[in-house]
Amino acid sequence: MIIDPWSSQNYEYEKLFENFGISRFEREMWNDFPSPPFFFRRGIVFGHRGFDVIRNSIKNGKPWALLTGLMPSGKMHFGHKIVIDQAIYYQKLGADINIAVADMEAYATRGYSLKEAEKIAIEEYILNYIALGLKPCRIYFQSKNHHVKDIAYLLSKKSNLSQVNAIYGFSGSTNMAHVFAPFIQTGDILHVQLEEYGGLRPTLVPVGVDQDPHIRFCRDLASANRLYSIIPKEDRVGIFVKVDDNIKELLDEAEEVIKGKGSILERKDDYKAIYARVDDLFSLDKELAEVERKYDAYSFLLPSSTYHRFISGLDGNKMSSSRPQYALFLSDEKEQMRKKIMAAKTGGKISAEEQKKYGGEPEKCMIYELFTYGIINDDKELEEIYGDCKNGKMLCGQCKKRAYELISNFLDELKEKREQARDMLNEYLP
Ligand code: TRP
Ligand code: SF4
Repeated sequence: MIIDPWSSQNYEYEKLFENFGISRFEREMWNDFPSPPFFFRRGIVFGHRGFDVIRNSIKNGKPWALLTGLMPSGKMHFGHKIVIDQAIYYQKLGADINIAVADMEAYATRGYSLKEAEKIAIEEYILNYIALGLKPCRIYFQSKNHHVKDIAYLLSKKSNLSQVNAIYGFSGSTNMAHVFAPFIQTGDILHVQLEEYGGLRPTLVPVGVDQDPHIRFCRDLASANRLYSIIPKEDRVGIFVKVDDNIKELLDEAEEVIKGKGSILERKDDYKAIYARVDDLFSLDKELAEVERKYDAYSFLLPSSTYHRFISGLDGNKMSSSRPQYALFLSDEKEQMRKKIMAAKTGGKISAEEQKKYGGEPEKCMIYELFTYGIINDDKELEEIYGDCKNGKMLCGQCKKRAYELISNFLDELKEKREQARDMLNEYLP
C-alpha cells in the first residue's frame, strides 16, 4: 500500500496506524479543550503525529503555529471545508494561523498557470474561508515567498532520488517540478519557524490523510538537518552531536543547556555524546535547535500533524471536484444542490414498507454522513436521526428534505458573507 497524494483513492483507515505509524487521535487528546468541535467528537479527525506537543502548548498557553495549505484547483466543496473548520477552531484557541496557497504545486501537477491558480485561490477558496468565519490571518502564495523556496532548495540536499521514489512512486517520466513539489511543501510547513515568522515553536499541520507522505517526508528532512539528535532511553536521554565539525564546542553548548533543564550523568567526547536526566524534552530540543542556529544550521523542530477522514461523495466514493455530479460545492445553486441530494446514495430500503419494517442503515448513508460533517451540530439531534432511521420511524424522502433545507440555508448565508468578504481580502493577503 502506498499513499499517493495526487490521486483520488479510498482509504482503509484502520491500516494506516500499523502500516504508516500514524497514532490514534484518542479522546484524551481533546477531551478537556473548550467546546470540543464536531470533528473531534465524531472521530472525523482520527489520527496524528506528535499532537502532544500542540496539546501542551494549548494547555500551557504557549505560542504555536498552524500551517495548512490549499490546492487552487477546481471548486471548493464540503470535503475542503473540514480543514478550515479546524483552522477556525484553533484560531479561537490562540493559534497563529498560516495558510499556503499551493500555486506552485497546481502549476507542477495540475497544469495551471500561476495567474490562473491565483484567481481560483481567491475566488473559490479564500473568499469562502472568510465567509466561513476565518478571522484575519496570514495567507500567502508559494510562488511569492522566497523563504519557502529557500528551505525547499537547501533541505533538498538531505534527500535523494531513491528516497523520494520510495515515498511517492515517481518514475523516469515524472516532470521535475512535480518531483520538487514535496520539497516546496516542506518549505511551507517549516518556514513559519524562521525568525521572520515567529521563530522556533510547535507547528501543527492539519490535513487529509492523503497528505501524510508529505508530512513524513518533511519530518525526515527536518530531523536530518539537525546538528544534535536526542534519544530518550528509559530514565535517561542521550544527546548526540551528528556532525564532524565543532564537536567539542557543540558538546559544551549542550552541557550549558542541559544544566538549566536537569542533570548531566556522563559526557563522552569520543562518542560525541552526553547522557543526562531531563524532564522536558521538548524545551531541551528547542534550546538545542537555537544553539544550532548560532552555528548557521537551518534547524527546525519536528512539525506535528492531524489527519481527518474524507467526506464521501454523494455516490459513496471520495468527494472530488472531478466528479461534480456527486460533490456538494459551496457555490452550488439551490436547484443543482437539490437534485444531487435527491439522487444521493442512502442506507434506505427498496420500499417504504420494508423500511418501516426493518429500518434503514445510517452507517451507509451519504445524507447521514453530511449531517455528521457539521450540517447538524447538535449531537442529540444527530442521535435522534440515527435512532429514527434504524427503527424505521423516518423515511429517506423526509430525511433528504431536511438535508436540503439545512444545506440550502447554509449556502444562502454563505453566499451573502462571501460578498462581504471581498472587502476584507487585504486583511489576509500580503
Ligand atoms: N498538497 C496540498 C494539497 O494537495 C496543499 C499544500 C501545499 C499543503 N502546502 C501545504 C497542505 C502545506 C498542508 C501543508 O491539498
Ligand atoms: Fe439515510 Fe435518512 Fe434514509 Fe436513514 S432515513 S437511510 S439517515 S436518508
